[in-house]
Amino acid sequence: MADARRIIIDTDPGQDDAVALLLALASPELEVVGITAVAGNVPLSLTERNARKICELAGRSDIPVFAGAIRPMVRDLVTAEQVHGKSGLDGPDLPEPSMPLQQRHAVDFLVETLMEAEAGSVTLCPLGPLTNVALALVREPRIAPRIREIVMMGGGFFEGGNTTPAAEFNIFVDPHAADVVFRSGIPLVMMPLDVTHKALTTASRVAAFRDLGTRPAVAVAEMLEFFERFDERKYGTDGGPLHDPCVVAWLLKPDLFSGRACNVMVETGSELTMGMTVVDWWDVTGREKNATVMRDIDADGFFALLTERIGRL
Ligand code: BDR
Ligand code: CA
Repeated sequence: MADARRIIIDTDPGQDDAVALLLALASPELEVVGITAVAGNVPLSLTERNARKICELAGRSDIPVFAGAIRPMVRDLVTAEQVHGKSGLDGPDLPEPSMPLQQRHAVDFLVETLMEAEAGSVTLCPLGPLTNVALALVREPRIAPRIREIVMMGGGFFEGGNTTPAAEFNIFVDPHAADVVFRSGIPLVMMPLDVTHKALTTASRVAAFRDLGTRPAVAVAEMLEFFERFDERKYGTDGGPLHDPCVVAWLLKPDLFSGRACNVMVETGSELTMGMTVVDWWDVTGREKNATVMRDIDADGFFALLTERIGRL
């Protein structure tokens, strides 16, 4: 097999972040160089701990986990315990991690790793608010052309928002950071709600994880059963959207997704539409296309991939 693709996952676990981490750690096509935690679904002290819990669940206590930004760049932190529970990972009973948190700040790790690695060799996978990534770009702009690509979960256009009528959670929490990232010139692949709302954790898909019978797979089923209840009530669907694993699935099997190159700008000025991702799907502005915006997913293929990979752990 070709060399594994080197990735850094920036994350705020979060049950769906956790499943994304497990998918990456189960996949030999990917080398997880490090995990950087950010404040988002729950405060940073919990997201960094949750990231370590998940590494241990995958049997990968060798992965370095770094804590990053404790709050967004400009605005106050907004969290989502109503979705993810008090711990951020409610559902399974996971032990406190024994692997250490790295001493280095996540932003230092990002900057130093990207400056040291061969240019174009590292992909960033942000699954939460973009604070750490934006801070790294502000601190050391020379990293921008060295990043192979940013593949991120965030935003929404045709679906609207899930946190306000206009904004998706990750972008809403730190719209100023998102603005820095979307203006960076780095190749971007965006997994918005338009895709993730089609990746539903239906009862039979969750049962397929449980039936695998291994500890990580049963923990996934327990996480999803907790996580989906909020969105099932909100949307009236069988299952909730499994957002963040779409990012990792795209790296493994891009054919599961379809979309197009567009200009995307982030609203940072209006309180009413703060954090909206304005996607020029029809190219009505002629502005430079700065992101590949995904719109569709083969949901059965996505869950088949996930189930097969989680079964390897
Ligand atoms: C995003 O927000 C978080 O709640 C999820 O982990 C996902 O990254 C979906 O809007
Ligand atoms: Ca997330």
